[in-house]
Amino acid sequence: MSIRLGQDDYLLTKNQSIDVSCDYDALVNVHMLIMGKTGMGKTTFLRQVIQQMERITPTPRIHIMDVHGDMELKGASSVRFSESTEYGLNPFVVSPDPHFGGVRKRVQDFIATINGCRPIGSRQEAVMRHLITDLYAANGFFSNDHKSWVINDSITRKYPKKHPTMDDACRYAYAKLKQVIIGGDTKSGRALEELNRVTTKIYRISKQQSIPGATLDLDLVEKAMTHRSDAKKYFMEYVENLETGKELEDFVKYESKEVLKSIVERFDNLKASGVFKNQPPPFDPNNPVWRYDITALREDEKRMFVEFRLQELFSVALEKGPVRREEEGLLRDIMIIDEAHLFFRDDQNNILNTIAKEGRKFGLGLVCASQSPTHFSEDFFSNVATKVVLGVDQMYWDNLVRKMKIESKLLQYIKPFHVIGVQMSNKGETRSRFTMVRVPNSRVTPA
Ligand SMILES: Nc1ncnc2c1ncn2[C@@H]1O[C@H](COP(=O)(O)OP(=O)(O)OP(=O)(O)O)[C@@H](O)[C@H]1O
Ligand SMILES: [Mg+2]
Repeated sequence: MSIRLGQDDYLLTKNQSIDVSCDYDALVNVHMLIMGKTGMGKTTFLRQVIQQMERITPTPRIHIMDVHGDMELKGASSVRFSESTEYGLNPFVVSPDPHFGGVRKRVQDFIATINGCRPIGSRQEAVMRHLITDLYAANGFFSNDHKSWVINDSITRKYPKKHPTMDDACRYAYAKLKQVIIGGDTKSGRALEELNRVTTKIYRISKQQSIPGATLDLDLVEKAMTHRSDAKKYFMEYVENLETGKELEDFVKYESKEVLKSIVERFDNLKASGVFKNQPPPFDPNNPVWRYDITALREDEKRMFVEFRLQELFSVALEKGPVRREEEGLLRDIMIIDEAHLFFRDDQNNILNTIAKEGRKFGLGLVCASQSPTHFSEDFFSNVATKVVLGVDQMYWDNLVRKMKIESKLLQYIKPFHVIGVQMSNKGETRSRFTMVRVPNSRVTPA
């Protein structure tokens, strides 16, 4: 199982033609990093790699994230994602794996991803976490019961169980907001708000009076006494007017209407983007190459799209379990990411980092192209087995030399479109050589 890159350039000068290939049985993983200044042929190189990967048997599924619309390949199954298509991703599909999956993990990943694309405040984050967890519970998925994470659990229901969707999240958040606004107008809800207000005042006074050296302020003490009797009155009012018994719980979780309102808006925006839809994309299951045309999405939407799709693929791979010994080297999915600087974050939760570190065991490969060594995360850079240098701007040479532990003079031998630098790390080897490779000058013609 291998793909050919070209011929050893040094040996060519000695009249020996020796092929240089990525031998996936020997390499530590299938991941590949492609680095090249603009116009150096990254996209073209990716297309050539894909054409060879298609010929691997058994054929892995190749997922192309096409950011610019320049990755169309003859025969590939293509789906265009935009605001006006009805296809998209569902970010709320829970993996039933008791160790890796579950509601808490999904909620965490969801928030981390949208946070990485456009940050939300910490109060919003807490409310969003409660909302989604409650939404799951309303759909029969409970964070503390892994048996409930499967769709076909043994409980019989009126309606078939399904994962919640972005539409459901919008409706649920809006219903909660309505409930909190109306709840605040009931006697019990109002009393709770008043109780919160006066206890805050009492707390403030007691803090002022407990500063070392503070003189006793009798006016303040008297005020505190009045607040105390008010607090008692409001507490009685709250208890006497309880209706659902959930008033306190909701008050604690969804205390601020403003925060809840901003979450409703955020969900509405997410729903309006071209990323999340109830209908899964109609890719041809018999075609090994799936091209996700995300040209029409905004930059932050592209980021969300790629992260959520990769999370989905990782989840599915986890469910299938690690690749078994007799299938050693089996490749399930290869993800091709051009313009990868859009998607990398130096963050534990970034899915690209997770796949770089854990993907191999589950048959996943990650192929990423970008312009400079600083565009890739540390995790990716240190885990990727094959690094391909097509030609890097001189201002990054020092950085590259340090990161790849190579001699800087080697970079001078790189001749764009003709000679590229390749470093591969094989199983059982601690050092990896930086080889100059003469590439075949055949271009892949667009479809
Ligand atoms: N090996 C090659 N030999 C000759 N021409 C090539 C080769 N590879 C790429 N090209 C040509 O160079 C131009 C730029 O290639 P390509 O779009 O692949 O570069 P890129 O690195 O992806 O650029 P960008 O950073 O702008 O996306 C194209 O016209 C392409 O046809
Ligand atoms: Mg390109």
